[in-house]
Amino acid sequence: MKKDLISINDLSVQEIRDIFALTDKLKKDKAKFSNVLTGKTLALIFQKPSNRTRVSFEVGMYQLGGNSIYLAPQEINLGVRESIEDVAKTLSRYVDAIVLRTYKHEDIIEMAKYSRIPVINGLSDFEHPCQALADVYTLKERCKSLKDITLAYVGDGNNVCNSLVSVCFKLGIKMRVACPLGYEPRVKVGLNLFYQPKEAVEDVDIIYTDVWTSMGQEKEAQKRRKDFKDFQVNKELVSLAKKDVLIMHCLPAHRGEEITDEIINSKNSIVFDQAENRMHVQKAILIKLLKNKA
Ligand code: CP
Ligand code: NVA
Repeated sequence: MKKDLISINDLSVQEIRDIFALTDKLKKDKAKFSNVLTGKTLALIFQKPSNRTRVSFEVGMYQLGGNSIYLAPQEINLGVRESIEDVAKTLSRYVDAIVLRTYKHEDIIEMAKYSRIPVINGLSDFEHPCQALADVYTLKERCKSLKDITLAYVGDGNNVCNSLVSVCFKLGIKMRVACPLGYEPRVKVGLNLFYQPKEAVEDVDIIYTDVWTSMGQEKEAQKRRKDFKDFQVNKELVSLAKKDVLIMHCLPAHRGEEITDEIINSKNSIVFDQAENRMHVQKAILIKLLKNKA
């Protein structure tokens, strides 16, 4: 593995498979791994709110015998109180790894450049790699073969979508993206783009959606509600997919906007399996990046 996990592109196909194999072991025998990161400390620096990412990393680190420190936006005040370079160089003397959630993706790259320790992307404006890895792991648990499934992502071509496009391309999962004109993902590898959600979901095995307005875009919320009004994942849209279609969402959801209550609560929904697997997959990532490092 490279020192840092900033993008899905930091991982080879084999490394992704190794992370998933270790995740299987962690889920089967939690007690066996309860001391692997004893004495290690993880710093979580977040410029935006979080439920899943913060809690799953903190609890995951605890379950592996390690410790974590959460640093809220006002605490470190990245780039304002002091430079990213100085934060990176200081924390490298105290802790063993950093999870960073930022607005600008470039800030994570800069933190990694000046850190002696691993830096993990906990969400930026460009990517959310830990989410996409947990999502594909969830699909691996559910589906016979990843090569036989088609996933339709309906909504904003945002950070979550970018990481999903990358990981699906790497692992040979067929993926379609349906978004309004002007909201296409920035990652283009193997991109199969649609502007009509109904066409994109026809006969698919999985429908995935995310919020129309991501954190930091709140001023655009009203315009986005208009632009995305035909992209809601609801009963009518879902009826065009396979009968046993799986419904995915990274959460938090804006129920009644990008997805209806009925669909997110339906028996086809696996959104809380995704949320749970964030912790298991991230434990594997932490072990891979930290174990046996001085
Ligand atoms: N999916 C996800 O990253 O959730 P949080 O923003 O709550 O961490
Ligand atoms: N696209 C969303 C994902 C939240 C986990 C955001 O960036 O706010």
